[in-house]
Amino acid sequence: KQSPLIAPSILSADFARLGEEVDNVLAAGADIVHFDVMDNHYVPNLTIGPMVCKALRNHGVTAPIDVHLMVSPVDRIIGDFIEAGASYITFHPEASDHIDRSLQIIKDAGCKAGLVFNPATPLHYMDYVMDKLDMVLLMSVNPGFGGQSFIPATLDKLKQARKKIDDSGLDIRLEIDGGVKVDNIAEIAAAGADTFVAGSAIFNADDYQTTIEKMRAEIAK
Ligand code: DX5
Ligand code: ZN
Repeated sequence: KQSPLIAPSILSADFARLGEEVDNVLAAGADIVHFDVMDNHYVPNLTIGPMVCKALRNHGVTAPIDVHLMVSPVDRIIGDFIEAGASYITFHPEASDHIDRSLQIIKDAGCKAGLVFNPATPLHYMDYVMDKLDMVLLMSVNPGFGGQSFIPATLDKLKQARKKIDDSGLDIRLEIDGGVKVDNIAEIAAAGADTFVAGSAIFNADDYQTTIEKMRAEIAK
């Protein structure tokens, strides 16, 4: 298991002050920036694209940017995100007609690649592409919105994903996204996650640093 990373989801940031919000959350101790891309097609919401990723890089953000694509089709937007400075690009297998090809496009560009599993999507989508994965992301809510409640069945699914990754012997991060809070992050970590997305729990808090410190303390329990 890799060292824990806290990945604030900027979906819950103040978009009118996005550069400042990202600076603040990184100064508060965040490790990577979780960047939610929604297209009003694969998911019923519309957010931000490659231009905003590029704007954050131009603003001076050097931390890894973890691009979570909730779009269909997948392939034609990958190149734009690579040019825009993405560090990780993850996508939903249901949104790609050719999962192996989409992963390969990301890897060929020197970017880290991952698959995202909705709450009811089976883990077997990873079986034949394990060697191309740097990240497995389990959704613990249905994608599309911040501020939803953690679906408890995800804990058992995390254990199954953890076992698959450990059995493979590969260097793959296990990320969790949706409803992660200070009061449930310890059990999420115990179930096997090493990368923790949190949107509303961090950006709706008065003090980002205290919240991130509390999360780290819970993970270490
Ligand atoms: C949901 C997004 C999440 C979202 C999480 O579709 O993928 O990253 O921002 O928000 P919280 O942490 O509030 O559940
Ligand atoms: Zn996300």
